[in-house]
Amino acid sequence: MSYKVTLIPGDGIGPSIVEEAVKVVEATGVEIEWEVKEAGEGAMEKYGTPLPEEVLESIRRNKVALKGPITTPVGSGFRSVNVALRKMLTLYANLRPAITFPGVHGIPFDNIDLVMVRENTEGLYSGVEHFVDEDKTAAESIKIITRKASERIIRFAFEYARREKRRKVTLVHKANILKFTDGLFLEIGKEISLQYPDVEFEDRIIDNMCMQLVKKPYLYDVIVTMNLYGDILSDLCAGLVGGLGLAPSANVGEGLAAVFEPVHGSAPKYTGKNKVNPCATILSAAMMLKYLGEREKGEAIYRAIREVICEGTSLTYDLIENPDKSVGTREIGTAIAQKVKELLNA
Ligand SMILES: NC(=O)c1ccc[n+]([C@@H]2O[C@H](COP(=O)([O-])OP(=O)(O)OC[C@H]3O[C@@H](n4cnc5c(N)ncnc54)[C@H](O)[C@@H]3O)[C@@H](O)[C@H]2O)c1
Repeated sequence: MSYKVTLIPGDGIGPSIVEEAVKVVEATGVEIEWEVKEAGEGAMEKYGTPLPEEVLESIRRNKVALKGPITTPVGSGFRSVNVALRKMLTLYANLRPAITFPGVHGIPFDNIDLVMVRENTEGLYSGVEHFVDEDKTAAESIKIITRKASERIIRFAFEYARREKRRKVTLVHKANILKFTDGLFLEIGKEISLQYPDVEFEDRIIDNMCMQLVKKPYLYDVIVTMNLYGDILSDLCAGLVGGLGLAPSANVGEGLAAVFEPVHGSAPKYTGKNKVNPCATILSAAMMLKYLGEREKGEAIYRAIREVICEGTSLTYDLIENPDKSVGTREIGTAIAQKVKELLNA
């Protein structure tokens, strides 16, 4: 079977890491026709918008996209393309797995296997933000939490836990202070948990959760939370397993579209240097293959990365102790692609 997938190379290091992900997917033998679309800085220069309509049309048509990171100018310029994509395609769930790959240098735990399920469409990222007066002496952002969006993300987390045979869902909030917004989210979590007696349920206050994750991350399994907390906690979890170079993600919605991308950004200072780790994008492509029903091929990519890291001879600077012995983006990509072929032909 062959699939059509929208491919967005993105900005900065994006094109180089996306190239390695395509190389590894090709090594699995899954036939994909890539529809390449430009979004971000390049699109802004050419078309006057960082997110041309044809990018959205392509994703809506193909229903699946693999995306590189896109630069968001701070304070001025265009709003985040990433936030816009998630809102416009109603990609309400952002899944961010954090899994230990033994052999990665400097990781404090060898047994982390958790998935962050982050609400992707509202909360403090609703885009309702302004100065309160002309002199700009104060500004405010409005946190929007709705029953509809909370129910669907929490239900998604429970369904995911059930499907993937995970044992526990932990809901993270600050309902002791934010009694209305976070209070509503927590209340809905408690209600929905009653419908899933086979999945353990607990809740944690965000500040305590940060400490718990640093001290005992192996106790957690599926974590569901609001937009901003999920954004921050998932980077924390990425740090625990070796950094952003190993952090993939999937943005999924009501079956209309799914966008797979690394958690990290466009790391502009590394553009064109053949230096950064493409594994987060390769792992995102593996999640995409599983989503498409190519589970075995997706698993093969995970195993290939595990083995390449264990062997320790073709690793980027962020994965090893002595950066002088590191290889570049292309070299680790080639080693993983080669390993995928060996595993699937074995
Ligand atoms: N989904 C997205 O498209 C997305 C996500 C986050 C940030 N961004 C954007 O990216 C731009 C740069 O953001 P930033 O500098 O805050 O974060 P960043 O993730 O791009 O980089 C921060 C640091 O993390 C490390 N890093 C990131 N990716 C790595 C990789 N693959 N391998 C090894 N090390 C890696 C580097 O040390 C880098 O300097 C900003 O414009 C931001 O808005 C986009």
